[in-house]
Amino acid sequence: QTTVKTLLILGASGDLTGRLLLPGLARLVATGRATGLKLVGAGSDPWSGDQWRERVRTAFDAAAETADGAGKEALAATAKSTEYHQADVTADGPLAQLLADLEGPVAVYFALPPQVSQKACEILRPEQVPAGTRLVMEKPFGSGEESARELNKTLLTLVPEDHIHRVDHFLGKATVLNILGLRFANNFLEPVWNRDHIAKVEIIFEEDLALEGRARYYDGAGALRDMIQSHLLQIMALLAIEPPATIGERDLRDAIAAVLRASSIKPPYTESTRRARYLAGSLNGRDVPDYTAEEGVDPDRNTETLAEVHVGIANWRWKGVPFILRSGKALGAKRKEAVVTFRPVPHLPAGFTGRDTPNTLRIGFGPDTLELDVDVNGPGDIFSLDRAALVAELNASELLPYGEVLEGVLTGDPLLSVRGDTAEECWRIVEPVLAAWAAGKVPLGEYRAGSGGAAPKEA
Ligand code: BG6
Repeated sequence: QTTVKTLLILGASGDLTGRLLLPGLARLVATGRATGLKLVGAGSDPWSGDQWRERVRTAFDAAAETADGAGKEALAATAKSTEYHQADVTADGPLAQLLADLEGPVAVYFALPPQVSQKACEILRPEQVPAGTRLVMEKPFGSGEESARELNKTLLTLVPEDHIHRVDHFLGKATVLNILGLRFANNFLEPVWNRDHIAKVEIIFEEDLALEGRARYYDGAGALRDMIQSHLLQIMALLAIEPPATIGERDLRDAIAAVLRASSIKPPYTESTRRARYLAGSLNGRDVPDYTAEEGVDPDRNTETLAEVHVGIANWRWKGVPFILRSGKALGAKRKEAVVTFRPVPHLPAGFTGRDTPNTLRIGFGPDTLELDVDVNGPGDIFSLDRAALVAELNASELLPYGEVLEGVLTGDPLLSVRGDTAEECWRIVEPVLAAWAAGKVPLGEYRAGSGGAAPKEA
């Protein structure tokens, strides 16, 4: 049962709404987890109600295919009752009017470019925001620590912290959340989950997608802001947090904030970071041009499409263990996983032959898998070591990541939303690197689209 009566999506005609929000919401409705919800779209485009309903129906029809009878009915009812309002939310009045007219509590989803969302919030006055209103902010949250702090201040004049949902949809991914179950519902890991037994942790998100028409946003962001500042730091935090007493929003988000406060990327940045952008190449049989030749890209921005940073966590558990975060676009193979590499055994009894490799635990973020690599006896000689992988395929979640996040919004649970101090902290961690890169202190390397991301030989 939702506590929110109306979900108001600002930016209803935009890409995020069509590609992610409506499909995410559709499954939520289809599984009976958003009953009685009124969906309202608003945007600056002069859409007719029918145009918007058509958009909603397209997303909902896909979910109806696998829904049961009740689910189909719920989808049809939500799609039928939805309405669209043309509104310029950066002007004084229209958003306040919507909040006054719609049945509350209302969750306002800012599916808009960050500057537009920020302006819309700045123009709202506290008395125009009815009690119970929830504000849902997309990433990037601000453009740096200072601007995130300013945005937090603005939002807090309108609603309390636990009514602000800063979205990081990775926190809605089942395998990302599963890190908590894996770590805290099993007894064998916690005793070895520290610097004494773990040599390094890598969090890798390599995509075989290029720009996909998002140059306008991406060229101003780059891989470090787009992926590492938000998603990968959240994954790192879940891997590194101290065991919380509960999985309630306060305990969990306190633990996340604490570990991020201890995290930093140390100079020299030529050693602790890497940046590169792709050159023309063949990606899944498709010819991709140089990044700088993509439409909408300004080559002088020196935007990186691959970023790597080595984060250190200054606490008793993790001192000296590198957390290596890497993300890149237009790579030859999709690789989305966290890899925990354990230290070698202190003494391998003489007499063993074959391969002796440190254990690794791999947490796959799509496909959703868990893999523990261990040394066992190989074929033939029983004392000859060989590698075996214990692999589990994890159950797919009933909801899409955006559905999971939206459920929190609609039921009034901020657990899966990034807390204000954490949003600022994530910028604090990457800002010195952004500054060093902007000052040209770390060379911008190159790699071929479709390759593994290493510098091409001829370069
Ligand atoms: C988004 C980034 O937040 O996450 C994209 O802006 C990226 O660049 C995407 O491709 C990856 O998320 P997912 O859910 O598609 O794996």
